[in-house]
Amino acid sequence: MLSVQNVAVRLGRSAILHDVSLTACAGSLTAIVGPNGSGKTTLLRALTGDVPFSGSATLNGRNIARADPADLAGIRAVVAQSTQLAFPFTVLEVVRLGLRHGGDALAIQALSDVGLGAHAGRDMQTLSGGEQSRVHLARALVQVWQPADDDGPRWFFLDEPVAALDIGHQLLVMKIARRFADAGGGVIAVMHDLNLSAMFADQIVLLHGGRVKAQGAPSQVLTNALLSDAYDCTVRVGCAPASGPWLVPQAMEA
Ligand SMILES: Nc1ncnc2c1ncn2[C@@H]1O[C@H](COP(=O)(O)OP(=O)(O)O)[C@@H](O)[C@H]1O
Ligand SMILES: [Mg+2]
Repeated sequence: MLSVQNVAVRLGRSAILHDVSLTACAGSLTAIVGPNGSGKTTLLRALTGDVPFSGSATLNGRNIARADPADLAGIRAVVAQSTQLAFPFTVLEVVRLGLRHGGDALAIQALSDVGLGAHAGRDMQTLSGGEQSRVHLARALVQVWQPADDDGPRWFFLDEPVAALDIGHQLLVMKIARRFADAGGGVIAVMHDLNLSAMFADQIVLLHGGRVKAQGAPSQVLTNALLSDAYDCTVRVGCAPASGPWLVPQAMEA
């Protein structure tokens, strides 16, 4: 379980997150949504132990602020919003970064799962943005697939995992995340696409101005009033038969 209570983050002289409390259970997919600059990445980085915070946050009972990084790496994998590589790695070398023990079979399997089985030998820098993003997901997959000392649930923390992807690969990646959650893992994914969030998430956390504006099932959070207010534009939420809410922004006022 991920349990977050009264988390606040200051960066430099700016207060970025205020009094954030939320819980997420293993076996579920939580989407963190909100406008640009609302604090989604900062929250994810606090929860992965990469940004100092006040308040309390625990993952599988471990205090995230004080946990040993190697211990945390055994239970959760992170895909950041953007990653700069310092060296000219091949695709396979990037995926291997997620391996603690030798053996390329897992890495090859993960690359195949994200649709990049034929690209293992390519120079990472020559891949498109969307392909690079899927390589990083493959790296995270091999990290959570390996046995760890702890037999508790594993977690994915994903920052905009589908932002650079075409619609087919968006569905591929969301299905991988969904399957991971259905198999007992926990997924925390920062999302801009509210329709994909409605389709795949069990719960949605809506951030606005560094605060949690709403948290709950998609039907509770994806409402005309909450979204129009948070995103400062008119959003219309409909309901497709048998598939839940869908949303359209209103480009023109009636
Ligand atoms: N190192 C920093 N110093 C000061 N402000 C920062 C820093 N990093 C991010 N911010 C600010 O914090 C706010 C939240 O950023 P971020 O968490 O990246 O937003 P989001 O991911 O929701 O778009 C933004 O206003 C951003 O400009
Ligand atoms: Mg961000």
